[in-house]
Amino acid sequence: MNLKCINCSSLFDLDAIMYNCSKCNDLLEVQYDLNKISNNLDSKWRDAPLSVWKYQDFLPIDQNVERVTLKEGGTRLHNSKKLSSFFGIDNLHIKNEGDNPTASFKDRGMTVAVTKAKQLGAKIITCASTGNTSASLAAYGARGGLKRIVLIPSGKVAYGKLSQAMICGAHVLQIDGNFDKCLEVVMKLSSKYNDIYLVNSINPFRLEGQKTIVFEIFEQLGHIPDWIIVPVGNAGNVSAIWKGLSEFYQLGIINKLPKLVGVQAEGSAPISTAFSEGKMEVNNVQKPETLATAIRIGAPASWKKALRAIYDSKGLATTVSDKEILDGQMNLAKLEGLFIEPASAAPIAALKKLLRQGTISSDEEVVCIATGHGLKDPDIITKFVEKPTEVSSDIEEIQRVISK
Ligand SMILES: Cc1ncc(COP(=O)(O)O)c(C=O)c1O
Ligand SMILES: [Zn+2]
Repeated sequence: MNLKCINCSSLFDLDAIMYNCSKCNDLLEVQYDLNKISNNLDSKWRDAPLSVWKYQDFLPIDQNVERVTLKEGGTRLHNSKKLSSFFGIDNLHIKNEGDNPTASFKDRGMTVAVTKAKQLGAKIITCASTGNTSASLAAYGARGGLKRIVLIPSGKVAYGKLSQAMICGAHVLQIDGNFDKCLEVVMKLSSKYNDIYLVNSINPFRLEGQKTIVFEIFEQLGHIPDWIIVPVGNAGNVSAIWKGLSEFYQLGIINKLPKLVGVQAEGSAPISTAFSEGKMEVNNVQKPETLATAIRIGAPASWKKALRAIYDSKGLATTVSDKEILDGQMNLAKLEGLFIEPASAAPIAALKKLLRQGTISSDEEVVCIATGHGLKDPDIITKFVEKPTEVSSDIEEIQRVISK
């Protein structure tokens, strides 16, 4: 196993503390000897219950390394019949990543990255965050007994997420700037001070944990769907999903690959713009905006991996408006009882649009990844839904009100 540069293919030691290629500065990824994995695979690996660490044979951590875990993964896959018929599609599933310990998909990557941090002897972990990464870092850092520092854009992080980071003892620093600025700062910080270990998704170990989402989808369905739709912010997750799929495909565990859809909010859409122009390069958005604050990112660090994933899967990148996002969030909650945060509803909104455009047809099977729980950002709901009705304790009055 090595760290490999995705541009110049230089190889580095798996234990090297580095986040970019030292030769060309491009992104790194974990490269496996797939033949070795295949030869050593215990035929019973499928029998264990779903969890991130179920897939340890496909992860870059030795079995004897002590794990920092909160029992992540094993999230539910809901066959959403009412939403399917509302949208006019036969087979729609929602992978509810809000079931994770800190209620977002970030925990899958964090358990692996923080385990690696401890194995490397790091004492301090850090990240830039639109909220969920900081919540996850704080929890796993607490579990692992590491000092934890998070950098967030001032006033642009939902309170549910901020409170998670604070209660779990992270040193929360906010700067007058957006996520992109925060990431720039923590990257400088961790490259200057070697004892500060960076666990943003530019850290390849994060993506290794996150790829387990698709391993679970495969096992839950018993096959690979036609489409997987995922929200895109810093673009780590869509990259991780494709890496997982590619590895299972090369190992012969699956014999089909889905098309990936990466969804961005209209005001924060550098990857979708590049895709719609058929480009392999991304122009950053200087002032990203969307009320889906989790994906309010203009300079996605993993853009190259993400674009490759989307092109290689023969999928697409698209945008949705904030209004479409809120409608999607509401549709899922009202029809299926699943409360997810705005960024997580971007795939639902995109599905509606792609069905209308005929890009996805009604007989194709779709999985939307719901990346985080709705309670992370309750404020947004109170702004957009009808307020509670004031009534007296008179039951006649209540009867009149409810029968309207
Ligand atoms: C709820 C939610 N959805 C989607 C994303 C985007 O994931 P990525 O940055 O890996 O593209 C994030 C990132 O913070 C998130 O918190
Ligand atoms: Zn390189």
